[in-house]
Amino acid sequence: MKLDRALNIDDLRTMAKAKLPRMVFDYIDGGADDEVTLKRAVSRYDDYELTWRALRDVSEIDTSATIMGQDTRLPFFISPTASVRLFHPAEGELAVARAAYKQGVIYACSTLASQTVEDIAKANPGPKWVQVYVWKDKEIVRNFLERAKEAGFTGCILTVDLPVAGNRERDPRNHFAVPPKPNLKIASQVLGRPGWLWDLMRSPKIKPANFTHMRSEGSDAGIIGFVNQQFSRSVTWNDVEWMREAWGPGFAIKGISRGEDAKRAIDIGADAVWVSNHGGRQLDTSVPTIDLLPEISEAVRGRADIIADGGVRRGSHVAKLLMAGATGVALGRPFLYGLGAGGEDGVRRALSIMEEELRRTMALLGATKISELDPELMRAPHL
Ligand code: FNR
Ligand code: LAC
Repeated sequence: MKLDRALNIDDLRTMAKAKLPRMVFDYIDGGADDEVTLKRAVSRYDDYELTWRALRDVSEIDTSATIMGQDTRLPFFISPTASVRLFHPAEGELAVARAAYKQGVIYACSTLASQTVEDIAKANPGPKWVQVYVWKDKEIVRNFLERAKEAGFTGCILTVDLPVAGNRERDPRNHFAVPPKPNLKIASQVLGRPGWLWDLMRSPKIKPANFTHMRSEGSDAGIIGFVNQQFSRSVTWNDVEWMREAWGPGFAIKGISRGEDAKRAIDIGADAVWVSNHGGRQLDTSVPTIDLLPEISEAVRGRADIIADGGVRRGSHVAKLLMAGATGVALGRPFLYGLGAGGEDGVRRALSIMEEELRRTMALLGATKISELDPELMRAPHL
């Protein structure tokens, strides 16, 4: 199917499903436990209803924004996601990084990227941020951040909603592991996807490329096992303060769900509070992020930017998060579906669908710039 036949993100999802082995598609698509958060993340936007300002001159729509000090053409950007070569074995992160650059959006790279920060920086000379988890060994994080900075990354994101990996039951059911282990159990899933298999066989083994030196420990445990072995569960706010100091400005804390934690993030110098539940992959039945924004805005009081993500599949969802108080919006699955559907061009298709939808929504709302997306246009459900 041709990419321009994808009219929306859900069409790209359908195309990705047809191209990727089930275990790989489900790793993108799935969530924790009963996937309640995953489902509600998307459907909750429907409960927020819109009014519009009529007879406004909407011949020019300006979607530009500044997120964590970074001027950007669009208020949404690429969220960090692990092991992207799984979904596109030949290039993975490089395809996404190029697409982001070409579409003019900020790119964020996961700690668990399957390409090095140096190679990603070569593929994307534009604005880019790097995400870290809290590792048991502080020096590992310090070295990684130094490398990223050296390579030209200007923002750092510390993800705090993963003290342990969430319970994603689709993965063990599908015998999923990173790197995929060829055996009879996955053969039927993989053989039906010859394009993906061919790419996988022709490219180097998929691994956390920035930490190959420590890969031996946990290499048989798959990505979730690796996470559980390497990441620290005992870290608290006092232990992460050094990171903001080491990095300097352009520091976000991702995975905040409470006003009090937003305040703590600001106390340790965060420039952005990132409201996220990891796309429903961690604590199930956590609150949809849009519902949290009033409390977070109240706590932040303009002292830091607010980034939000989760379940954004339409331009109108971006607009609603901005109306509810977000400064910027991150996208996870939308670009991964695009990548699975059609590599770099698929990611570009996903981003251009989101852009077109956002522009159309803004015109229909009578809003010509992001600052005109004010909460008065939206009726929030009674919480
Ligand atoms: C993620 N996410 C994530 N977040 C992070 O900080 N580091 C990571 O390595 C990953 N890895 C990851 C892998 C995959 C396959 C997915 C789908 C997500 C979470 C991601 O950054 C973001 O918070 C959510 O994906 C947002 O929800 P949507 O847009 O996917 O609904
Ligand atoms: C995820 C991790 C590893 O799969 O961030 O969500």
